[in-house]
Amino acid sequence: MEISLGHKSKIVVIGSCNTDMVVKANRLPIPGETILGGTFYMNPGGKGANQAISASRLGAEVTFISKIGYDLFGLQALEIYKSEKINTDFIFTDSKSPSGVALISVDSFGENSIIVAPGANRSLSTEDISKAVSKIVEADIILIQLEIPMEAVEYAVELANRYGKKIILNPAPASGLSDSFLSNIHAILPNRIEAEMLSGVKVTDIESAHRAAQIIGERGIENVVITLGKEGAYVKEGEMYTLLPAKEVEAIDTTGAGDVFCGAFSVYLSEGHSLTDAVKFANIAASLAVTRIGAQSAIPYRSEINI
Ligand code: ATP
Ligand code: RIB
Repeated sequence: MEISLGHKSKIVVIGSCNTDMVVKANRLPIPGETILGGTFYMNPGGKGANQAISASRLGAEVTFISKIGYDLFGLQALEIYKSEKINTDFIFTDSKSPSGVALISVDSFGENSIIVAPGANRSLSTEDISKAVSKIVEADIILIQLEIPMEAVEYAVELANRYGKKIILNPAPASGLSDSFLSNIHAILPNRIEAEMLSGVKVTDIESAHRAAQIIGERGIENVVITLGKEGAYVKEGEMYTLLPAKEVEAIDTTGAGDVFCGAFSVYLSEGHSLTDAVKFANIAASLAVTRIGAQSAIPYRSEINI
């Protein structure tokens, strides 16, 4: 399926909307410790939103299915999605919950740790998703993460499958998933921690990434892409295994790097490129993002990617 020039592929992203509260420090605190950090930033985020904006900036026509609270954070997020040319017809509002918030610490190497208070994300329902069936039917790819209820995720996968859609799953945050669920996914994109959760193998090097990819594959998924931070991504495509390195850059903030990777991967795949080329494209986009502060503010545009 090669998309002709000028015609955008269609991606439906189903996932979370958060506002990120970020503090940079020399290092991350250990349990029980208070440390002094640097400047505080408040940025729009959420894995679903970051991936939707990535897909839109990188060239796809995007519908985002999500839920906000009836508050300033939610309304601001909605305005941002509109300005990013995302279809917001299926952004629902929960008047009883606050919008999602993420507390993020970033160390001097750009590594982060995150706690999410899901708020309204927790009430995205199967009924909400069923309202977007027309968009799911016409999509080239459905992209999902796990910051929304598992019931909604399972329903979305079942619905998309019914219409023969390619489903890309970013299994973040890490969670146990059944083999029968996994067998309906076209490609899964875990990071090291999520890959360990799914395979039982601690991913520390290429050999362990290979074993993890193999085990995840045996659970019923043909295509596995384990992202390895600055090492790039380890790819299982059917019976082929390859390490595809990231670009060498100076990382300032890796927050959302995985989201840019997923958005970029989905766009390139939806345009009819091979899985390997989609990973190469995603590595370039994500390595650019880590050279900039923030999640959404760091997302590159298509014109910045030379492949
Ligand atoms: P995060 O949670 O920080 O958003 P993640 O843990 O989901 O990220 P990673 O495996 O850390 O995902 O990174 C995703 C992709 O981002 C990598 O596969 C790579 O392409 C790019 N990347 C991450 N860190 C770096 C880095 N230091 N230098 C270059 N590219 C990087
Ligand atoms: O992947 C990064 C994102 O995770 C942040 O934007 C934060 O909101 C959490 O969802």
